[in-house]
Amino acid sequence: MVRDLTIVHLSDLHFGGVADLAQIEALEVLVPTIEPDVIAFSGDLTQRARHGEFQRARALVRQFRDTAPTLVVPGNHDVTWWRSPFSIAGPRAKYEKYRQYFGEELTPTLELPGVLLAGALTAYGVAVGSLTPNLRDLAVKGHLPKSETDRVAKLFAQTGNDVFKVIVLHHNIMRGQLSQRMGLARWPEAHRRLLGTGADLVLCGHDHQEGADQLDGGLIISTTGTLSTRMRGGRPSVFNVIKVDHQAVHVQFVRWESGAGLFRFSDTHSFAKRHPVPVLSAAERRAG
Ligand SMILES: [Fe+2]
Repeated sequence: MVRDLTIVHLSDLHFGGVADLAQIEALEVLVPTIEPDVIAFSGDLTQRARHGEFQRARALVRQFRDTAPTLVVPGNHDVTWWRSPFSIAGPRAKYEKYRQYFGEELTPTLELPGVLLAGALTAYGVAVGSLTPNLRDLAVKGHLPKSETDRVAKLFAQTGNDVFKVIVLHHNIMRGQLSQRMGLARWPEAHRRLLGTGADLVLCGHDHQEGADQLDGGLIISTTGTLSTRMRGGRPSVFNVIKVDHQAVHVQFVRWESGAGLFRFSDTHSFAKRHPVPVLSAAERRAG
């Protein structure tokens, strides 16, 4: 079944000291008016993985569930990695707090008519797979293990071409325009793995700068900004609205105007779908 679809893509709310309550309160009013089919949070809901931060984030997610189903994955700020660096105290300790507020499943899936969304975990804190020669990257960079993309690929393989397939993960897939940084260690490998999943769209954040791109001329990447005071380069905060129709995917940036205290719908980037619905000729339409 193919139908039009609207996704609200939020990221990096960073509840805590850098939260911008004016933005959050404006978001609470605006998002239901967009009438999304799904609201996806691509990680970093908290600043320091504190209980109060998780509690506020959970309250927002619960509130949005009145509008549409939600899907949440953790970001590097949501992982209490210091409880188990290099997983020395086991793999569970670093996600305990996150799970307390967002449930056992770190990589949830969500299936709606014509669309399948799958979370993928890239946030592991200080972990062997995320290490780079740059000390600044410690606990910040992520990685995308083969086991994650294999799991998602298997899930996607069970559905047809007419189902739109979306991966939600935290770390930016494309190089940040201002930061010039990749979110993932060993990113060329991660790109190959993502392309191999059969996904149509990836939702990510982490870099605090928005972007709309295609990987290898096919896989569409929606990167959204932060809804906190920490937007890169002093630029306005952004969240993304993605509309999928029969032929194309449209990624629209919604920018915060702090002076006016409101979000404004801004530029849209459109990409052809990999599996468009054939356009019928006038004669076919009359016959059909
Ligand atoms: Fe992050």
